[in-house]
Amino acid sequence: MIKNKINILIIGQGGREHALAFKIAQSNKVNKIYCAPGNAGIAEIAECVAINANNIEALSDFAIQKNIKLTVVGSEEPLSFGIVNAFEKKGLKIFGPSKKAAQIEASKSYAKKIMAKANIPTPKSKTFTDIDKASKYIEKQKFPIVIKADGLAAGKGVIICDAIRKALNAAENMLIKNQFGESGKKILVEEYIEGNEASFIAFCDGTNILSLPASKDHKPVFDNNKGPNTGGMGAYSPVPYINEALHKKIAQTIMLPAIRTMKKSGAAYKGFLYAGLIINDDQIKVLEFNCRMGDPEAQALLIRLKSDIVPIMQACIQEKLPEFTLDIHKKASVCVIMASSGYPNKPVEKGAQITGLDKITPSEDLFIFHSGTKNKNKNIATNGGRVLGITALGNNIKNASEKAYKTIENIRWKKAFYRKDIGKNLA
Ligand code: GLY
Repeated sequence: MIKNKINILIIGQGGREHALAFKIAQSNKVNKIYCAPGNAGIAEIAECVAINANNIEALSDFAIQKNIKLTVVGSEEPLSFGIVNAFEKKGLKIFGPSKKAAQIEASKSYAKKIMAKANIPTPKSKTFTDIDKASKYIEKQKFPIVIKADGLAAGKGVIICDAIRKALNAAENMLIKNQFGESGKKILVEEYIEGNEASFIAFCDGTNILSLPASKDHKPVFDNNKGPNTGGMGAYSPVPYINEALHKKIAQTIMLPAIRTMKKSGAAYKGFLYAGLIINDDQIKVLEFNCRMGDPEAQALLIRLKSDIVPIMQACIQEKLPEFTLDIHKKASVCVIMASSGYPNKPVEKGAQITGLDKITPSEDLFIFHSGTKNKNKNIATNGGRVLGITALGNNIKNASEKAYKTIENIRWKKAFYRKDIGKNLA
């Protein structure tokens, strides 16, 4: 191993983890990057190992064996299962919240309690485990209304219901028909609020935060926000309706109070904290907190981040975040997700050969992040719903969007589709 350089393990297999690997690979603090389990794009930067992201025992054994000095967890599941506690118990350094702190995403009712204690504005809601009580309450509400599974549901547990029948069905599917298993055994019935959504993500060290620029996700599967919600079909950064003053306000009145309240209640928060916001002028409410970076927000954000991410992650673990600032590219970014037909609700065909990637030269302004891909017979093939994140920097969002869409023209596979409106009609 080269002196003072460390081995890093990234856990996960999506576009977010590819973006983390891409950013970590730029650090001069890194000897070797491993990723478990990774994908075909990550394999170009890191050594991928076939260990499932939730196999905490095998991952910690691997980290010891490979002398890993920093593990970075991409997704919410291993965090909510307690991967950070398990690694720390074995003396391993790991970036992410503890099991208790990850409840901010893994239990929506827990998040509401933290927000109430911290005076953070959030839509009104009520929690139910009983279908009769939930139904009686739903019958008295104005529509639309939102039904949410309390636990993790891979981005599918939030149903916006424009009529009473849909709301009653959603509640019944979760509470009675086990739609989301244990995650839907408790539900929230929440008021629906119109407004502009944004994602706000910060590094946290338990006491302090270092905020990334705001970004905007596009959850519905089709153009003009039609169709069911996905994990995200595209993202851009910055967000035109979040100016510097509003950015500061979000940091001061939402992110800091959240982590300070969590610390006081014995759940010190370290890692990425992600607030999903709804904004009306300068009125901001928190729709949800997530215990990790967003995907595809990570792709749009990390291509803009100029600072070395490795010492910042280490500072979060060591509670030394105030020693750091972030250097952010002035250019705007756009990430357009290419997915396989059927996503998000139907099984997608896997193994289709992707062509055209060899015609694209990655540059400082353009990168293709992989999600569901794998190597197959010396080619790259599809391996999931979301497949690629075409991510570009431009002088403004429109320019970055044009670059991303021009690049997409070269990429093909059977049954590929993407939204055509990410970052369109913006300055
Ligand atoms: N893009 C939304 C999420 O990562 O939760």
